[in-house]
Amino acid sequence: MDPSTDTNAAIWKSEEHVRSRAARAEERERENAERWRVLGELLPFGEQDAFTFLDLGAGTGSAARAVLDLYPRSTAILSDFSPQMIAVGEEEMAAFAGRYRYVEFDMSTSTWPLEIPAVLDAVVSSMCIHHMPDHRKEGLFAEVFARLAPGGWYLNYDAVSSADPVVAAAWERTADRRDPEAARKRLHRTPEELARHENHVRYLIPLPQQLAYLAAAGFAGIDVYWKHLDDVIYGGQRPAQQSSALAPITGGQAASVA
Ligand SMILES: C[S@@+](CC[C@H](N)C(=O)[O-])C[C@H]1O[C@@H](n2cnc3c(N)ncnc32)[C@H](O)[C@@H]1O
Repeated sequence: MDPSTDTNAAIWKSEEHVRSRAARAEERERENAERWRVLGELLPFGEQDAFTFLDLGAGTGSAARAVLDLYPRSTAILSDFSPQMIAVGEEEMAAFAGRYRYVEFDMSTSTWPLEIPAVLDAVVSSMCIHHMPDHRKEGLFAEVFARLAPGGWYLNYDAVSSADPVVAAAWERTADRRDPEAARKRLHRTPEELARHENHVRYLIPLPQQLAYLAAAGFAGIDVYWKHLDDVIYGGQRPAQQSSALAPITGGQAASVA
């Protein structure tokens, strides 16, 4: 995509947007903390297991911190395409120094940087896959599958759309009860808020299509493990036993983060 017309890059690489988002970080952490915890708890590790996971589109690292907190011997690779988000993330990740590193990776391409190990024990993502057009959602899931160690899990916390207007209206109505200001805000967006909203919704797709991409990639144990209105955590496991056509890229476990 031409970077000059890519609203997604313009928004996520805008110092102003990233700083104004950082100012609301506490509120966002409060609202989402339990969801990131569930995402972490779904990983099949014991509390003292040492493993390396990738947080795709990690932003300032909220999902990665939840996993690092739950598993004190785990290490994280956080990927994002926004140097501005990464800069704020470096501040917010300070408590985990030595247990994480950031890698710049633009998920709109299928060229994974060499700094991401070829084999990963687990992959998570939070509120970023919906920024990808459908062919990249599908492509990414296949790329994640190819890098997971046998038995490794991929879990995605994200927003979905519904093809059924009755369902979409029920989601909106119910969310408005929790936040009575939401309906007013929807009708009175500033041009920047409108641009952010349009960027947020432009590639939202229904849940079944995303689960089908996971299945096509070869995942097993696919389920929607948590759901509240239009927010979901879904994922699956790369089967532990592979047919020869699906043999891992390299043997063994993921490389250390260091
Ligand atoms: C809504 S934020 C979510 C950040 C974080 N995962 C969280 O849940 O707090 C979306 C993130 O996706 C990143 N992102 C958007 N498009 C991307 C792309 N093409 N490649 C890599 N990261 C991207 C943005 O920079 C941003 O950090």
